[in-house]
Amino acid sequence: MTPRLSRRTFLTTAGALGAIAAGATACSTEATKRSTSNVVDFHGEHQAGITTKQQDHLHFASFDVITEDREKLQDLLKEWTEIARRMCRGELAEPGAMEDTGQAQVPDDSGEAYDLPASNLTVTVGFGPSLFDDRFGFKRVRPKELTPLPHFSGDLTRKEISNGDLCVQACADNPQVAVHAVRNLARVGAGIVAVRWSQLGFGHASATTRDQQTPRNLFGFKDGTNNIKAEDQETLDQYVWVRDADSWMDGGTYLIARRIRMLIENWDRQVLREQEGTFGREKRSGAPLGASDEFDPLPLESKDERGEPLVPLDAHSRLASPAENAGQHMLRRAYNFTDGSDGFGHLDAGLFFIAMVAAPSESFIPIQSKLAKNDRLNEYVRYESSSIFAIPPGLRDEQDYFGRTLFEARA
Ligand code: HEM
Repeated sequence: MTPRLSRRTFLTTAGALGAIAAGATACSTEATKRSTSNVVDFHGEHQAGITTKQQDHLHFASFDVITEDREKLQDLLKEWTEIARRMCRGELAEPGAMEDTGQAQVPDDSGEAYDLPASNLTVTVGFGPSLFDDRFGFKRVRPKELTPLPHFSGDLTRKEISNGDLCVQACADNPQVAVHAVRNLARVGAGIVAVRWSQLGFGHASATTRDQQTPRNLFGFKDGTNNIKAEDQETLDQYVWVRDADSWMDGGTYLIARRIRMLIENWDRQVLREQEGTFGREKRSGAPLGASDEFDPLPLESKDERGEPLVPLDAHSRLASPAENAGQHMLRRAYNFTDGSDGFGHLDAGLFFIAMVAAPSESFIPIQSKLAKNDRLNEYVRYESSSIFAIPPGLRDEQDYFGRTLFEARA
């Protein structure tokens, strides 16, 4: 197995070999020496961080663009690509930033990930509907699906933690690596973009590959059992990837993010029967009520001896299932969060829900509308933010940059 090299281990080794003198040399040497065991491929048809085996930690940030200069925005996205590419390889934001900075210079990397491995970092970039106003000439290429989400019944969303012109989703198996990634992108964006809101997440609350054990959300239930997995190629092609050769979004997807506060103290007073009825699944095994294995299909038609449905009619799993939604699927990539307490003796905790879909108007929006009205889970949650972003296709090679297809798009 390739030994795992941290940024510092590598640089020390390289130094001993006499191979590190200038930044450029460091960069090329790093590229040949780096560990590949915890590095996710940066290039591909689709951006990393979507079907990538879900990492443990998230730092999600939304940005407002504060310049009206299209070229400056384009240059920043090019710079973000370079930096993200390096950070995803476990390198510094700028080669040599920790060794070659003079005492009178500002370091080109904030430094907190210097000793840490790449930790499967992925950086996924997207564009919000507001970017398609009059500022940058994108108005005529705004995809129809990139429309601000409607207000759903019961939503208590806050403007200041919703939407934004750009988003960056950084996921990694080490929280410091994810935070470092967003921080350094924000740092180089000063004067061009400003952070609008950001969210940390932990204990990935979805599984996105078949070899992952299904994790649990903060209500203690397995979450992600019936998720689309990276191996489900046909389902991904049909419900997650945009397939439109004439569009700059071909190969991309739409990301929906909703901060869902869990009313933990209320939930923790409910008896097990009520908790399991809310999801329509057993708490310990994750099996559907009336079935025995976690991955058994939901017995939606089965009834108990009193003639009651085994999976209650208002159970979350039933209402969200493809069987009850014209076959629609979504790829979920949620994270748990706990942001301290709310000053009233309650934990400020919940689920930062992230879903990726090819057509929000056909999948996410109708399903969320239905859940908003009928889901028993609504008694225990509060929807606090709501955002949608277009995630352009993947980066094809070293010359490519985030958003290239958008900048090249013709109406
Ligand atoms: C705090 C909020 C939420 C919690 C705690 C939660 C939890 C769960 C759990 C435990 C399951 C069953 C296991 C599984 O198949 O993953 C599930 C399934 C599912 N949830 Fe959620 N969920 C939440 C919000 C949402 C939202 C907002 C949506 C979409 C609008 C959604 C869509 C789904 C879907 C599509 C399934 C799979 C249903 C199936 O095919 O069986 N969930 N959720």
